[in-house]
Amino acid sequence: MSAVNAIAIRGTLLDCPAVLAGAPASARVVDDGLVVIADGLITYAGAYDVRRHAHARCMDLRGKLILPGLVDVHTHFAQTEMIAAYGEQLLDWLEKYTFPTESEFADFDHATRVAKLFVSELIRNGTTTAAVYGTVHPASVDAIAHVGIEQGMQLIIGKVMMDRNCPQQLRDTAESAYVESKVLIERWHHVERLGYAITPRFAPTSSEAQLDAAAALWDEFPDVYLQTHVAENEAEVRWVRELFPQARSYLDVYARHNLLRPRTVLGHCIHMDSRDRDALCNADATIAYCPSSNSFLGSGLFDLDAARRTSPASVQRLGIGTDVGAGTSFSVFRTLGEAYKVAQLRGQSCTPAEMLYHATLGGAHSLHLEDKIGSLVAGKYADIVVLDPHATPLSSARAARCDDPLEQWFALCMIGDDRHVSETYIRGQLAHATADVSVS
Ligand code: GUN
Ligand code: ZN
Repeated sequence: MSAVNAIAIRGTLLDCPAVLAGAPASARVVDDGLVVIADGLITYAGAYDVRRHAHARCMDLRGKLILPGLVDVHTHFAQTEMIAAYGEQLLDWLEKYTFPTESEFADFDHATRVAKLFVSELIRNGTTTAAVYGTVHPASVDAIAHVGIEQGMQLIIGKVMMDRNCPQQLRDTAESAYVESKVLIERWHHVERLGYAITPRFAPTSSEAQLDAAAALWDEFPDVYLQTHVAENEAEVRWVRELFPQARSYLDVYARHNLLRPRTVLGHCIHMDSRDRDALCNADATIAYCPSSNSFLGSGLFDLDAARRTSPASVQRLGIGTDVGAGTSFSVFRTLGEAYKVAQLRGQSCTPAEMLYHATLGGAHSLHLEDKIGSLVAGKYADIVVLDPHATPLSSARAARCDDPLEQWFALCMIGDDRHVSETYIRGQLAHATADVSVS
């Protein structure tokens, strides 16, 4: 029996039933399915059954795909308005576009305006959970925190730490980064659905003292995350070798500073050897795979086969990052379309079920949130996205020729966009809809 304030959604359910333990991903498809929601949580998800929604308003969304809200494990809200900036690879792109853009975020009002645009783009693209970089300015974190709370979103946020190799006005120090980050952890971590990530930008912009300060802070707050970039671009890797000659590899810089732990979320992880990959997996650290950004900045072709690792203690945690603004789309499913193309270029496979997994339960697992989100299971948050394969003439014609919903999902990863996100629910609240939904 459902609660009086419950709502229900009828359509085709698509999710992944279990966290991978070395086996290939598999999907669950319920052709005529129902999700019942009460007090922000899923109370039922399974085959349509009229008795299950006796006391709930029921939205009839047959013909559409109902998925868990999508998870973006690496993105930069301050880079929203500089997306698609022409012509450079990573280090020049940072100098020419990123640092000047991020310089404006000391201003809370400016940061709030951009945060609102960013969060609304996330929601319009079906993303309900994201790990987000701020800028070096604490005000940027306050801005994204307020906007995230307003929408009830699950956001992991952090102030960038950088004390060298960047413009003077963007520099903090080891000490100020420690103090400011600590204040922000105490202000925002575990407030509503926010989590905090200690955020040294990447090894070249942090002194050894600052990396040590990040580790010391993490010791004090062991349940926060740490997010950074590693082994993204060849010129960057060469620079790190010069800056840290004692380290065996780029990843080893972080390991030597005690920053490789569970809840470390590492963007890119392209230029790595098998010792690095073993170290990542053994540490139970997370890979944030950012295929659209990797192509856009000419960074390289991620090796998905090599990343699929297990150690006696754990399965490699891996999620998908849009990495806006180096990434060129806010859409997690469109970004998975790019992952599919990279797999093709490398002669590897990335199945539709695996793409679904990375977008949902795999992303949740990569952020240690698999008990709360990532699949359509009673007791989890009702973060839900509804995709409409018939939203455009081309996708509709394609959908009509698909044999099953998983094939429709795959086609949307290749040719879909925000027009195909017909509804986004966050904690059971309708946060976005392209049209009125009919209620029965
Ligand atoms: N490495 C250091 N900073 C950045 C950034 O903002 N974007 C990307 N893609 N890589 C980085
Ligand atoms: Zn990034």
